[in-house]
Amino acid sequence: MSQKLFIVFCFHISVTLASQLRPGFYAQTCPRAESIVRDVMWKAMMRETRSAASVMRLQFHDCFVNGCDASLLLDDTPDMLGEKLSLSNINSLRSYEVIDEIKEALENNCPGVVSCADIIIMGSRDAVILSGGPNWEVKLGRKDSLTASQEDSDNVMPSPRANATFLVDLFSRFNLSIKDLVALSGSHSIGKGRCFSILFRLYNQSGTGRPDPTIEPEFREKLDRLCPLSGDQNVTGDLDATPCLFDNQYFKDLVNGRGFLNSDQTLFSLDNRTREFVVHFSKDQDAFFSAFVEGMVKMGDLQSGRPGEVRRNCRVANNPAHGRNRVLKNRVDLVSNLV
Ligand code: HEM
Repeated sequence: MSQKLFIVFCFHISVTLASQLRPGFYAQTCPRAESIVRDVMWKAMMRETRSAASVMRLQFHDCFVNGCDASLLLDDTPDMLGEKLSLSNINSLRSYEVIDEIKEALENNCPGVVSCADIIIMGSRDAVILSGGPNWEVKLGRKDSLTASQEDSDNVMPSPRANATFLVDLFSRFNLSIKDLVALSGSHSIGKGRCFSILFRLYNQSGTGRPDPTIEPEFREKLDRLCPLSGDQNVTGDLDATPCLFDNQYFKDLVNGRGFLNSDQTLFSLDNRTREFVVHFSKDQDAFFSAFVEGMVKMGDLQSGRPGEVRRNCRVANNPAHGRNRVLKNRVDLVSNLV
């Protein structure tokens, strides 16, 4: 499917079923669901603080690719190239095992009830609260996809080279506003990125053979030491100055030319429409928190409208052959829609 066609399709279906989601969806069928997720997230963070960031990132990478349906979590099969090895996810997404642990705890308590897609949404919310950020009520009731597509992920997920103007356009196709984009980028208040993601801006921004001039000089020297041109590209750096705390430091850093990713820094340096929100959030943490919650709820509403199930194991469809047939059927539908 061409990128444009896919995005239009995705947007068209995105808002249709969101109304079926609601808070307290598991109140009768699995009353302890939300506290079980919180407990496992807490334990995971005690083992490794960064797992909060890594789980929260899963919501973005799941919801943007055919809606929030845990397609991201499916392992590849001989018949299906899933999303784990797509350009944005390979060697980068992590903490899948935390989701497995949550799923196991839920299956022990109420088997076959809580979807993996909802686990991602609850885990992301808990990651934020447990890192010092805002709390909010999540809508639940999502189903898990029967299949996944590496190609769809490659077509949609933005690269670290993306700039603010491109991102405004991309997010608008998912019914997410400029304010949503800037607030959601504030998720980079926690976590880390690899040298791989910034080498080009340190040494060859836009093919100039020069560094990105918007990086504050002292910060650039620090990044140069962390990420020498011929160094290990898997070395990681903090996405903001307080990488374990969910706060508005990220926006203060952007205002001072200390953004880690190109996509982050251009929100301040390139586009007046996004800069306005960066400056506002850098001065008003409460405004950032409420815009972030709004953005997370809107992103969590993205749905594909395709049939789904509650997986027993988040990595595998309950009946993988069913998924295979579905892939074939989608291709046939697509071809007949195109001719
Ligand atoms: C606006 C477009 C976005 C771009 C271009 C982008 C890109 C990236 C990149 C390149 C990394 C580092 C990956 C690596 O070097 O391996 C990263 C990390 C991260 N992203 Fe984003 N991101 C975006 C939006 C979001 C959103 C909307 C969320 C969640 C709501 C999010 C959450 C995170 C988190 C928490 C991390 C750190 C993960 C960790 O430490 O494991 N990002 N992002």
